[in-house]
This record gives sequence, C-alpha cells and structure tokens, in this order.
Amino acid sequence: MNKNNSSLSKAPIADSMKKYSADGAIAFHTPGHKQGLGAHELLKELVTAEGLRREVSLMEELDDLHSPQTCIKDAQELAAKLWHADESFFIVNGTTCAIQAMMLSTLKPNDFVFVPRNSHRAVTAGLILTGAIPIFLPVEFSSELKIPLNVTADIIRRAIKKFPQARALILTSPNYYGVAADVKKISELLHAAGMLLLVDEAHGAHLQFCEQLPTSAMDAGADMAAQSTHKLLGSMTQTSMLMVRKNFVDVERVRRAASLLQTTSPNQLLLASLDIARLQMFECGTEKISAAVELSKILREEIKKIPSLKTFDTVKNFELDFTKVTVNVEGTGLTGFDAEKILRHEFKIQCELSDAANLLFIISYADNESTVSKLIEALNLMRNAEGVMRKDFKNLARNEISVALKSPREIFFSESEVVPIEKSVGRICAEEVTFYPPGIPILNLGEKISAEVVDEIRKLKNFGARSLTDTNFLKVTNA
Ligand SMILES: Cc1ncc(COP(=O)(O)O)c(C=O)c1O
Repeated sequence: MNKNNSSLSKAPIADSMKKYSADGAIAFHTPGHKQGLGAHELLKELVTAEGLRREVSLMEELDDLHSPQTCIKDAQELAAKLWHADESFFIVNGTTCAIQAMMLSTLKPNDFVFVPRNSHRAVTAGLILTGAIPIFLPVEFSSELKIPLNVTADIIRRAIKKFPQARALILTSPNYYGVAADVKKISELLHAAGMLLLVDEAHGAHLQFCEQLPTSAMDAGADMAAQSTHKLLGSMTQTSMLMVRKNFVDVERVRRAASLLQTTSPNQLLLASLDIARLQMFECGTEKISAAVELSKILREEIKKIPSLKTFDTVKNFELDFTKVTVNVEGTGLTGFDAEKILRHEFKIQCELSDAANLLFIISYADNESTVSKLIEALNLMRNAEGVMRKDFKNLARNEISVALKSPREIFFSESEVVPIEKSVGRICAEEVTFYPPGIPILNLGEKISAEVVDEIRKLKNFGARSLTDTNFLKVTNA
C-alpha cells in the first residue's frame, strides 16, 4: 500500500467534526445533551468531554449520510479505494443492515434467492423485507473438526442447474470459524448464469491486508460485500461498510436501500470511527494484520502441545482465516460451553464463541505476545478442570437443496399460533429459531418443522447454547 498517497492519509469525517467543535458555535440544536453541557456524570464517564462536544450531526461541516456531498462522501470514497470497491456505504446499524440493503437493492417479491444454511438471521429479515423466496443450500460440516465448513462450488453448480431462475446467492464467507468458500469460483459460476453474488463478509473486513488470508470478496468478484468493520477492525460496535461493484448492480438502488434502512440520526462518533478504522488500516493494516496472523500461528503451535486440546491450521477443500483459532476441548471432558464459563470465571479470559465441542478465539490486530501468552497459560490450566462431556452431540445433517414452502414475508404477516415444541412437528415454522452466537437460524420462516430439527433444538439447549427465543414453544402457521 502506498502510504505516500496523501489523499488517503486523512480522516475527513473526524476532521470535520473537529472543525465544527473548534468553531465554538452555541448549540441550539440536537442532541439534547448539547455537546455534553447537560450530560449525566455516568455518560461523561463513558465518553470524553471532547467526544460529547463533537457528538452533533447535520451541521454544514458534517455532511449528511443520506445525501453525502462533502466529508462523508470523501470518507466513503477513500474506503471504497482501500477495499477495492467501486463504491462504499457507511452503515451505523451493523452488518445486519448492510445485508438487508444488499437484498433490498437487488431482490423483489417472489424472486428466488440461494440461502446457504449458515446464513445469519439478518438474511431472514431481508427475506421478509423483500418478499424473496429462499432456496436453502446445504453447508458442509466437518465431523472430524466438529465445525461447520462452507458451501462448495459444486453445490452452487447443482443449485444453478436446478433453479436457473434464481436471482442471487447470499454467501457467508468466511464463516464464524474462519472457513472461507471458494468465492472466486462461485462468482464465476453465478455470473455465467446471470446471477448476483452478495457476500456476507461480516468476518472478513481484514482479509484485504494479508496475503496469507483468503481472498476478499471484492477481489474475488463479488457484486457486493457487507463487512463488519467493528468485528475484526477498529471501528465502534454497530458500524459496518457495504462494498459495491458496479458491473451488475444499480448503485442508485443500493444508495436508496441503505438510506431507507438507516436511522436519519446517525451518530457522528460511529461514523468517525469507521473513517478512522479505514485510516488505521491504510496506515498500518498490512503490518498489523500480518502480525495477527503470525501470533495466531504461535498460539496454534502452543495449543498443539497441550494434551487433550486440539486445533487445526488447514481445512480440507477450504481456505482458512488463521486469525480465527478454534480449540476443540472434548479431550478434557468439557463441552465448549462449560469451558467458556471456566475460562471466563477462573482465568478471566473471554472467548468469542463456544459450541458443544469448541472454543473460538479471535486474534485481531490489537493482540500482542502478552495477550496470547496469557491465553496459552489459561488453556494449559483449564485442561485440568473436571467435566462430564455429554457424548451424544451429533450435528444435524441437512444435505438437500430445498425451497421454502412459502415466502418468509407471507408467513411473517400470516396468522400464527404458539405451540409447545413437541407439538410443532409437521407444522410450518412462523419464526426463526436462532442460537447466539453464532446467530444462524436453525429453523426459518416457511420451513416444515421436522422431528430431527426439534431434537436438535432440545439438544443444543441441553448443551447450554443460548437461544434468542423461548425454545420450549414454537410459533407455527397453517397458512
Ligand atoms: C455471519 C454474520 N453475518 C452478519 C452478522 C450481523 O452483523 P452485525 O452484528 O454487525 O449486525 C453477524 C454477527 O454476528 C455474523 O456473524
């Protein structure tokens, strides 16, 4: 990256906020705390006085997210340049909103859209908003590593053949565990069939900065990519970017969708944090992300030395984002859920996610040798913890390409009833049932509820997984 490119070395939004604050105009405008003057002491503990002073919006210096002409426009252009997109949109409602904007700008009612089984619940909301009909695609699961893998190019080839009328694929890559799909091959297959590739790259904003990581969606030919800048880079929680390639996408529709779905009062601190995260990656992204990759390698080598713990650095047939380190704890007799609690409460280490068999740790650009050695120390001690592994965990296999019986939108607005889960088998599901993390619905609106899925929900609950709804009951419809 050419750091002498001075146009990239600035943070237009942050600079404009500073300018307005320095001007010293007396505020007769929102927000009600009036640049911190009325802020409660507890709020002042959270945000510095200068942060509160700059937390204003819509002043002439500050531009308008919905019709950017100056600093927001500049900041978005700089981000598009850095991430190799034609356009970028700053999003303050999370990647959830970026995904919905991708869908609302490209899909219409009754369009068929390929939705791999590992899609986040944001896609469910996008289906309700657009009225599109999902064709669910199977996602490989590794019974050896006990983690979900990703959708294969072969499945996409079969899906295109079976549903040549489909409009797009919403692909999640990399997945939560860092397992990336072959985005380049998949993009070629889709484009040859006249379909769009929309990538949920919530876990991939950093890929761009290290050649050892899977190719980023934009570089691999995606039409759009929704990135959680906040997840793996340095912007504040809730902030994301939507990257757009113009070839097959109507950028004006994307602009309209992103605007309609976002608040009309975007928080300036959040916008500035996106701008600054971009600047940070421009200044030192390559060094920082490469350093995180190297640290993750050291971590893996150390974990491999610990009896009863397992980790991996390759995944057959898939590329891996090394900064996601999965640790299988089954050898300790613990479930991942139990191990998470022990690490948190006995060793003050918090992982990103646990599942029945694993813990997932993120090594980001913010880590260093000290944080990683504390983790290694804790994992060494944790392996002695007592636990009784419940051995009956087996991932639910859903290998078929299946189209939803009804559009999730139709189901969402139809009459529904709530029944005890054991009475739901054979009925059509009227809600999405999601365990969090990872936030991936195990059941979606419009799907027929099978005995196997009910069993899986019960099992996950018994293992200690957290669900977003009360899974003793399910919302069903006869519509
Ligand atoms: C794969 C995936 N997509 C989308 C999202 C939603 O992102 P956000 O929380 O930024 O709305 C998440 C969040 O965990 C995710 O894991």
